[in-house]
Amino acid sequence: MAKRENFSSKIGAILVAAGSAVGLGNIWRFPVETGQNGGAAYIIIYIACIIVLGIPIMMSEFLIGRNTHSNTAGAYQKLAPNTQWKWVGRLGVLSGFLIYCYYSVVAGWTLEYAGLAIGNQFEGKQIEDFKLIFADFSADPVLPIVFMAVFFLATHFIVVKGVKDGIERFSKMMMPALFVITVVLVICSVNLPKAGAGIDFLLHPDFSKLNGGTVLNAMGQAFFSLSLGLGCLCTYASYFDKDTNLLKTTFSVCGIDTAIAILAGFIIFPAVFNAGMSLSPEDVGPSLIFITLPSVFQEAFVSAPVIGYVFSIMFYLLLILASLTSTISMLEVVNAYVHEEFHIKRSTSALIVTLVCMFFGVFCALSFGVLRDFTICGMTVFGLFDYVASNILLPVGGMCISIFAGWKLNGRIFYSELTNDGCLRAPYLKVVRFMLRYIIPPAIALVLLNMIGVF
Ligand code: PFF
Repeated sequence: MAKRENFSSKIGAILVAAGSAVGLGNIWRFPVETGQNGGAAYIIIYIACIIVLGIPIMMSEFLIGRNTHSNTAGAYQKLAPNTQWKWVGRLGVLSGFLIYCYYSVVAGWTLEYAGLAIGNQFEGKQIEDFKLIFADFSADPVLPIVFMAVFFLATHFIVVKGVKDGIERFSKMMMPALFVITVVLVICSVNLPKAGAGIDFLLHPDFSKLNGGTVLNAMGQAFFSLSLGLGCLCTYASYFDKDTNLLKTTFSVCGIDTAIAILAGFIIFPAVFNAGMSLSPEDVGPSLIFITLPSVFQEAFVSAPVIGYVFSIMFYLLLILASLTSTISMLEVVNAYVHEEFHIKRSTSALIVTLVCMFFGVFCALSFGVLRDFTICGMTVFGLFDYVASNILLPVGGMCISIFAGWKLNGRIFYSELTNDGCLRAPYLKVVRFMLRYIIPPAIALVLLNMIGVF
């Protein structure tokens, strides 16, 4: 088998991992959650979750991957041979597979909307028009599948180019572009005439909206947004070289991911409040980016239609870039597993995974149209994949990783990986291990118990 590749630079390592983390979760889901959970108050709780949960688990995934230089299932097999721990890795591969199937459907929608924005199809339309456009498009039996397939193929071609020439090279191009677009959109949005109320909402916490559910929500969002709990970052770290500073990489990725999420809030809320709207429960889900926002952008730039035109295109381009850097990482988790565990050529394994995911993706895409009434446990195929992966498998995966890194993993490996054999000083690592042992597993168990309705 060909020699295993590594990323060529430290900045490359940070950008690929950040690329995985920054996605629809930041630009779509985070603002929705913020809108419904008290604005700044939610952001504070979210940041606390990143610090308490996100950072220790990300460090664990990184150290497991880099130490073993293996796909996520192989990693546990190497560190705990002949035990059941390999199931943690396999579960991660399953989560990656499920998320990849439904995420690509929404990613495909962003392509269609970028096309509509470029064709100036939003001009002069009202919210009712956008509702119709979205209902028609998402229920269409063909178009969403075509756009989804385009997304799958784009992801596939980047991944088959290889770890260095595909994943790393594209992330290095896409992430700076993504950052520049984000900043330009923030500048346009905060300068809208009535942007003040939106900015206020993001800066002044309203603690009255907070409750237990908010904290649980923020935890789930932190997992999804940081791509934690499924071995995605473990797989990427298996391509880090031995000089990569895992601590610095963890802080950088968490910092970039949180910054983009908050900046997305500064794109969306000033525009939404400028239009005199708030994010009501019916604005949750796809309707935010495919109904509310196009109409809000229309209204915001009614007196400067050219800016509105460019703004809309840039916004959907931002979503495409963010989604693509994430889907690459989803494909790579599953691909690395199939390639290494079944000894199949990398390009062949990628093709197999792409085709299988595309097959299931079709059922997810049709969940908004012809398969709307086909439900399992009351959920459409799309809803089921999302629920099982995001609400169950990711937290369970995160809890297992935490228990593994805290209790099972040899302390010598834990400290030597994170300090590069003692070259880096990090006295706080004892606190991290303590959290992995005693704080994180019960905290996640609480989320899960709450979800199955124990409280
Ligand atoms: N972190 C991505 C987002 O915020 O959109 C979603 C994601 C990417 C989840 C990669 C899981 C994954 F493996």
